[in-house]
Amino acid sequence: MKLAVVGGGSTYTPELIDGLLVMSESFTIDEIALMDTDAERLRVVGDFAKRMVAAAGRSTVITPTSDLAEAVTGAAAVLIQLRVGGQATRHSDETFPHDCGCIGQETTGAGGFAKALRTVPVVLDIADRVRALAGENTWIVDFTNPVGIVTRSLLDAGHRAVGLCNVAINFERNFAEVLGVGHERIQLKHVGLNHLSWETAVYVDGVDQLPGLLEARIDAVAEKFRITPGHLRLQQAVPSYYLHYYYAHDEVLGEQLSEPSRAEVVMEVERQLLDVYRDPAVTTKPEQLQQRGGRYYSLAAIQLVASLLRDTKDVQVVNVRNNGTLPFLPDEAVIEAASVIGAGGPAPLAIGRVDRSMEGLIAHVSAYEELAVEAALHGGRHRVEKALLAHPLVGQYAIAEKLTDRLLAENARFLPWA
Ligand code: G6P
Ligand code: MN
Repeated sequence: MKLAVVGGGSTYTPELIDGLLVMSESFTIDEIALMDTDAERLRVVGDFAKRMVAAAGRSTVITPTSDLAEAVTGAAAVLIQLRVGGQATRHSDETFPHDCGCIGQETTGAGGFAKALRTVPVVLDIADRVRALAGENTWIVDFTNPVGIVTRSLLDAGHRAVGLCNVAINFERNFAEVLGVGHERIQLKHVGLNHLSWETAVYVDGVDQLPGLLEARIDAVAEKFRITPGHLRLQQAVPSYYLHYYYAHDEVLGEQLSEPSRAEVVMEVERQLLDVYRDPAVTTKPEQLQQRGGRYYSLAAIQLVASLLRDTKDVQVVNVRNNGTLPFLPDEAVIEAASVIGAGGPAPLAIGRVDRSMEGLIAHVSAYEELAVEAALHGGRHRVEKALLAHPLVGQYAIAEKLTDRLLAENARFLPWA
């Protein structure tokens, strides 16, 4: 069986290869094609991936290529992990909203919207070519951010796609530590959208442990998930780190104004990582990769592909059509939820109504995401302004107007209509 990775020259790719080596006792992958438009990165990352596989004594063939057709032809699943404009453009996303008193973030708020506008057309074009070259049955697994918006655009276009993020798998591991149990025994009730989610139940062998934890060990939970005990008590749920950008907006903005951007930090980490990857003596995933936000994304990816292709019907958290799971959202919305993963795709487990404070914010951001897809597909200043106005971190018309000017000026070379 063959897998293809579009954006395979990413510094994250060794993480993926590592996940494959961990999983491959039960799931054999004959070939991984790494496709990238950056020849130098592809060479460095491709060579390192080959050394990792060889050192583990495996026979998986690594095929680095700049040709999408070569990469995806014959692939059973295609993982898309790209970043249009690279870290330099991420820096722009993380800073231009500051001029308007808004946080800058690569997936949340105006910065995330800029990323969506640049990315959706590129991913849709790749997906069309995947469908033509690899066939209608090939799965597309999207890690490309903003995952919720990109996945919605893929599903709307009729692609066989699933969106994936590592927030939930990190929660599973962290709750396993807090509870002192193996992570494989944890199942989450994960409510919301990509990068806008809460854990409202934490099942160990089917029994919800969250109420007991919030009763007896609220300080430990608060510390682990970097949230105040008061907030936990209020919502009786654990918000993901990305909710910080909403619930502590002004505080985060203050910090951002006095610190380097995450893109600047990551550029330095990537420089170091590529140096390590170039060292022929290094044959395993380096420690520095743990400094990236994408920890465990590899395991989530390989598990997902394995379950889709082997019809495992186990439960994993993915981005999927709502179809009534959250009854306060349209069916067509894309949500992030624990789902049964089989050959027919993910089927979300029932959730139903949740705390109104969560429902309100989820519905608000979901409406913005729908408008963001419209803007990314059809362009036009008024669509950009409308989506920004609909975002809860923007809201005011004068700010939406100014952000639109800044966003379009910063991204003109990526947006043919701007
Ligand atoms: C988390 C998020 C990803 C995001 C990453 C950023 O893993 O789930 O969607 O891409 O963090 O990590 P970085 O190291 O690039 O800041
Ligand atoms: Mn993510």
